[in-house]
Amino acid sequence: MKILVAGGGGREHAICLALTKNANVELYSVMGKKNPGIAKIARETLIHAETDVPAVRAFAKEHNIQYAFIGPEAPLEAGLADALTKEGIGCVGPVKAAARIETDKGFCRELMNKHGIDGCPAYKLCKTPEEAAAFIRQYPGDLAVKPTGLTGGKGVKVMGEQVDREGAVEYAMTLKDQVIILEERLLGEEFTLMAFTDGKTLVPMPLVQDHKRAFEGDVGPNTGGMGSYSLEDHTFPFVTETDYARALSIMQATVNALAKEGSPYKGILYGQFMNTKTGPKVIEFNARFGDPEAMNVLTILNSDLFTIAEHIISGTLSAQDVSFEKKATVCKYLVPTGYPDKPHAGDVITPGQAENTILYYANVELENGVLKTLTSRTMAYVGVGAGLAEAEKYAEAACRNVTGNVRYRSDIGTETLFAKRIAHMKELRS
Ligand code: AMP
Ligand code: GLY
Repeated sequence: MKILVAGGGGREHAICLALTKNANVELYSVMGKKNPGIAKIARETLIHAETDVPAVRAFAKEHNIQYAFIGPEAPLEAGLADALTKEGIGCVGPVKAAARIETDKGFCRELMNKHGIDGCPAYKLCKTPEEAAAFIRQYPGDLAVKPTGLTGGKGVKVMGEQVDREGAVEYAMTLKDQVIILEERLLGEEFTLMAFTDGKTLVPMPLVQDHKRAFEGDVGPNTGGMGSYSLEDHTFPFVTETDYARALSIMQATVNALAKEGSPYKGILYGQFMNTKTGPKVIEFNARFGDPEAMNVLTILNSDLFTIAEHIISGTLSAQDVSFEKKATVCKYLVPTGYPDKPHAGDVITPGQAENTILYYANVELENGVLKTLTSRTMAYVGVGAGLAEAEKYAEAACRNVTGNVRYRSDIGTETLFAKRIAHMKELRS
């Protein structure tokens, strides 16, 4: 079976590794930058923007591709799934109209509102920066300020975190020629719930917690995600059974709403939730696997990802298709010095000893056996263990043994940070 994977990040390396565990899979890849991990296992690679739909379609037709797995959001927004589906190529990844759940945050909120879906924060859409500024000035509480379009997770400013009220106004004034969304600031613990879906049935994956902030202790600018962890029981102590059931039913209601609107959703639905005092609220949906979260869950996927993909495409997905090892995972990204604001590229890095970990390459160059940083996240180690402490120990040791101009967050997955999360939730709900 010939399957094309679009994208060249750590997430796509994890997708490609999981797919090629099936010996019948012939992997083809299209990616903007050559990911050395993917290039090594792909039969054929097109180094080209995945958003160039005609070019990707031509490559797929030339190689008689049967299936496609679309990793990032940008090609979904460009309509890659629509174009490939028209050619008879089944896609894991929604068509453009359904991907709006991620690519247009205003659409997402209006859809939730229209269909009475639980977990939607109070929001306001503003057509001009002036309208947003006026609203921010008179609003009694804190707000999150976002452009409605894609920003790679870096476009949100939250009052009381990155900005004060005047800072929020200033930021809104920079968001010209686009709809601005203002949302009540949600307080709580964030978690990621991802699910496979064929447009009707939803099959959830283990809960994961990402770390968006650049530096230890959750400070500094937002990034694409510095690392993430999951527990051996696939849940979190700060998410009750009721919270979990609500989050899953919000995801199911959203898939149902998209189908009702005439855009059935096939692929991975990613729910970013804030578990608040009163239960889970949706921060955002993504129309794809999370990066880094994909690396946590795919590392412990017991089932065959290719079979899951087939069932997503044919509309026959069921819970029996999917099982995960009862192991904890900790993923730590190594990033260039200065990332995300002023990343330094072109530095040589050398991996050292790494035990009980999987190495996923991301934005890194391999030339004559030498690895060099580029401007985005470099590569990640996922440690796997019976519990969090063990998984963290392996990921941490592997990262520490890398030499070169890269850094990582050593606090991700540690007992200290984990205890802080639990205490935070307890305090919020006491
Ligand atoms: P997003 O790009 O929408 O995932 O937002 C990036 C980060 O901003 C999230 O992971 C949250 O930490 C934060 N954020 C977004 N929206 C809100 C909100 N309404 N209240 C509090 N924090 C938010
Ligand atoms: N880790 C957040 C994202 O993939 O959007």
